[in-house]
Amino acid sequence: MQAVDAARLWRHLMELGAIRGPGEGVDRTSFSDAFQRGRAWLVQHFEEAGLEVWVDHAGNLHGRLDGEDDATLLLGGHSDTVPNGGMFDGALGVLSGLEIAATLAACGRRPRFSLEVVDFLAEESSAFGLSYIGSSGYVGELTSADLERRGPGGESLGDALRRVGGDPTAVGPVDPTKRLLGFMELHIEQGPILAREPGSLGVVTAITGIAWYRFRVQGRAGHAGTTPMRERRDALVAAGRLASRIYEAASAVTDLVATVGRLEVFPNAVNVVPERVEGVAEFRSPSADVLDRQSREIMRAALPPEVSLGCTLSFEMDGSTRPVTTSERLQGVIADAIAAAGARGVRLFSGAGHDAVEIARRTEVGMMFCPCRDGVSHSPAEWVEPDDVALALRAYDRAARQLLGA
Ligand code: HGY
Ligand code: MN
Ligand code: MN
Repeated sequence: MQAVDAARLWRHLMELGAIRGPGEGVDRTSFSDAFQRGRAWLVQHFEEAGLEVWVDHAGNLHGRLDGEDDATLLLGGHSDTVPNGGMFDGALGVLSGLEIAATLAACGRRPRFSLEVVDFLAEESSAFGLSYIGSSGYVGELTSADLERRGPGGESLGDALRRVGGDPTAVGPVDPTKRLLGFMELHIEQGPILAREPGSLGVVTAITGIAWYRFRVQGRAGHAGTTPMRERRDALVAAGRLASRIYEAASAVTDLVATVGRLEVFPNAVNVVPERVEGVAEFRSPSADVLDRQSREIMRAALPPEVSLGCTLSFEMDGSTRPVTTSERLQGVIADAIAAAGARGVRLFSGAGHDAVEIARRTEVGMMFCPCRDGVSHSPAEWVEPDDVALALRAYDRAARQLLGA
């Protein structure tokens, strides 16, 4: 049986990583031109590997290798990136899955079970304010209200979905009667733990829950030159205080992190006192209870009168995902494969979100982590050593073959 080719996987990571928008990092945000070019590259390589290729109604790209039995193992990841991101987040999952499928296809002997490599659409937070678009669509959780959401240019998510080959008129889960053996993803850790343990790989035990709150700080526009400082209702100063209070409050809670990573200032003119600021506050926790209770309490206390400069705060929850525990069975398969590949297995929690949180509604999920340099991700500095990719591929391939009966 032919072995997987780590050099080819590395070459593919570099080739796909070179498909990007302008700017320093990898910018292949979902639905963008660069994303579409990346998809075209994937379709070409899925076809060259001899896979059956299609895009499902939720916009996910599939490459299938039939086994003797049509029960199917899903491997995959996501080819979209954050703005100014890295080459490995998501891409490692899709391309390692492709490498395994291509190697099995080349050996000419069908595995016992079938394999689908999936590039899930828009795993990252998109211009529509939604993450996990393809994976939530795959399990039938994308709503008509979601499809009506408008992006910056006024395009609806439904139209954008159509642009990438999906079908917004088809509702419900993808392939609901297909027997699935599970979903497994190889992903960079995006944290510092494995980087401290040379030769280690991660067995993910659980994945964080996330809650998003859209907020608006409403002040009063004014002339930058003539409005006395004491009479200003400066929405940006108030929003800065809100962000700082969210930061301090979350820092005081165990098992909770919070980020205000997106602000839009109106009218955003240098000579106008900001009238209003709209933004998103994101909270994450391994505990559903902490996530629900604490995030709401922190938002409620985020802009009290004594610091608000007379501005008002309104907010609403704009979606959340539950924390997910991965399958014990898949944890065991992954841990055994890591040991058989000669690596050290480290069980760890994922503070990063992944499509597995949605796919877990449908089938067992498992994740293997590969170390990344200094744990840095969502940055042009995101990097993985080729030797770590080779070790991870060897272990991931063993786990996949174990599940496929290959
Ligand atoms: O935000 C996350 O954790 C993931 O990268 N979407
Ligand atoms: Mn990411
Ligand atoms: Mn990711």
